[in-house]
Amino acid sequence: MNKDVLILGIETSCDETAAAVVKDGREVLSNIIYSQIDLHTLYGGVVPEIASRKHIEKINQVIEKALETAGVSLSALSAIAVTYGPGLVGALLVGVAEAKAISFAAKLPLVGVHHIEGHICANYIEHPDLTPPFMSLVVSGGHTHLVNVLDYGKYEILGRTRDDAAGEAFDKVARAIGLGYPGGPKIDRAAKEGNPDAVRFPRAKVEDAAYDFSFSGLKSAVLNYLNTAKMQGQEINTADVAASFQKAVTDVLVEHTISAVKKRGEKRVALAGGVASNSALRAAMQEACQKEGITLYCPSPVYCTDNAAMIAAAGYYEYINGVRSGLSLNAVPNLKLGER
Ligand code: KG4
Ligand code: ZN
Repeated sequence: MNKDVLILGIETSCDETAAAVVKDGREVLSNIIYSQIDLHTLYGGVVPEIASRKHIEKINQVIEKALETAGVSLSALSAIAVTYGPGLVGALLVGVAEAKAISFAAKLPLVGVHHIEGHICANYIEHPDLTPPFMSLVVSGGHTHLVNVLDYGKYEILGRTRDDAAGEAFDKVARAIGLGYPGGPKIDRAAKEGNPDAVRFPRAKVEDAAYDFSFSGLKSAVLNYLNTAKMQGQEINTADVAASFQKAVTDVLVEHTISAVKKRGEKRVALAGGVASNSALRAAMQEACQKEGITLYCPSPVYCTDNAAMIAAAGYYEYINGVRSGLSLNAVPNLKLGER
């Protein structure tokens, strides 16, 4: 009988210190996340230096808890998978240095994982039937990518954002309408009370690239709307602005995804990244997919936002494909998907 492949995943690319143990790429034995959100809320966004320091303070506890919850000792592990990019360099370095130290001390193979690949692989955790090829829309605080998942570890990027990421737009607009940080979940909540057709915000198209995204014009349109209303002494209906902005973002995300899927003759779509937990996006994508006979996969919200189970899942497929990083692994803040 084949031995179970147990991977310890480590994630510290932004403001979550996370560790998880995953069996055979799909079964989560533990998923420990220390979120620093409260700490950064004071400053209205992630402060890189504070994030790095907090990772250093928490990483050992989080890893110990992940191993203890899974009931697994270091010697039972097959490998360590760690996010080495993209992300904040100081934050990434904490995870990478920790993973290298454990790999050296416990004589375990080390596998560097791309953060976005992790987000995509979060879909494998709860959907045992999902195997490549499929289309994935990755929408997070730092990234907006439409990706054709050709095989495990093989990706073709069809579209990306030219400016702000979808999550970044949510965070900036939330700040402008006074909802605070982190903006995504707050806009999601406020929008439930608002009218998505109250204000017609622009849906940007990128001339020469049908699947690319651009959200900075939308963000400016919201800011202009708010300034104009203020100058005219009109009261702003926060819920209506939140709902209308959210609709403008989700319309574009859904339209691009469906048009790429139809063109490629693909039958499955997987959402990924923090913004994939947005209730309006999930509902709109579900409706559009149903209309076209496409199956939609979404991770549970806890696997949408940053976590280490997704890194262990991605690490598993890299590991069985023979990828080994070695102790020269370094943090790569602007790592591109598909590069090593
Ligand atoms: O994937 P993630 O945890 O971190 C990155 O890799 O960037 O994504 C965080 C982003 C933030 O911009 C946050 O506002 C957004 O995901 N987000 C949401 C929701 N939950 C988190 N955006 C819209 N609706 C949500 N419910
Ligand atoms: Zn992320």
